[in-house]
Amino acid sequence: MSDQVSVVGLGGSMRAGSTSLTALRTALEGAAAAGAATQVLSVRELDLPLYTPEHAIPDAAHRLVEAVAGAQAMIWSSPTYQGSISGAVKNALDWLVLLADRQPAYLTNKPIGLVATAGGVQGLQAINAMEFSVRALRGWAVPLVLPVAQSWQVFDPDGALVDAAVGEQLRALGAEVVRAAYQLRQEGTCDYADSRQFAAS
Ligand SMILES: Cc1cc2nc3c(=O)[nH]c(=O)nc-3n(C[C@H](O)[C@H](O)[C@H](O)COP(=O)(O)O)c2cc1C
Repeated sequence: MSDQVSVVGLGGSMRAGSTSLTALRTALEGAAAAGAATQVLSVRELDLPLYTPEHAIPDAAHRLVEAVAGAQAMIWSSPTYQGSISGAVKNALDWLVLLADRQPAYLTNKPIGLVATAGGVQGLQAINAMEFSVRALRGWAVPLVLPVAQSWQVFDPDGALVDAAVGEQLRALGAEVVRAAYQLRQEGTCDYADSRQFAAS
């Protein structure tokens, strides 16, 4: 295993100009600045079919599970839809059932950072829904989360981030995920320890 931790970002929406995809990319910038190798997996680009165990596994699902299996941490970012996560993000999470037989299974020992964008103020509900899935998949939800409220004020119509303060919060979340991943590697656990102690260098 490389010394550098690898962080896979998963999420966004099925539309161009997705605010949740921009939020994900921004959080990954923070992860990269904290010393991680990063990769983004957009649900629009993956274009996964609805999960079923009854057909051949699509290439996109293979790509997803191999990227996740090779990562030490993840960041998930969903739009808030009807007070919860989008079907597309949930469907991508459903495909992670293919990690059931890995050693270790699912997302064991991986810290997961959670981000949601919302038109109103219900982003925390989407984050809480994602946390249920983190637990189901045996991962560790990083306590620092970022529900981005009133996304229409934070991003422009093309999905570009226009609120510098939210950008800093997203990058801080990305850095915290990396800190947790290094601590988990070194100590077998992660908590709120001093981040400087676990810097990539
Ligand atoms: C089908 C649908 C349902 C939505 N439901 C909610 C909601 O329950 N609460 C909320 O705050 N915003 C809701 N929104 C607004 C989106 O969360 C918001 O526009 C978000 O930025 C979309 O993410 P995206 O830019 O990545 O597509 C909804 C939008 C759509 C299209």
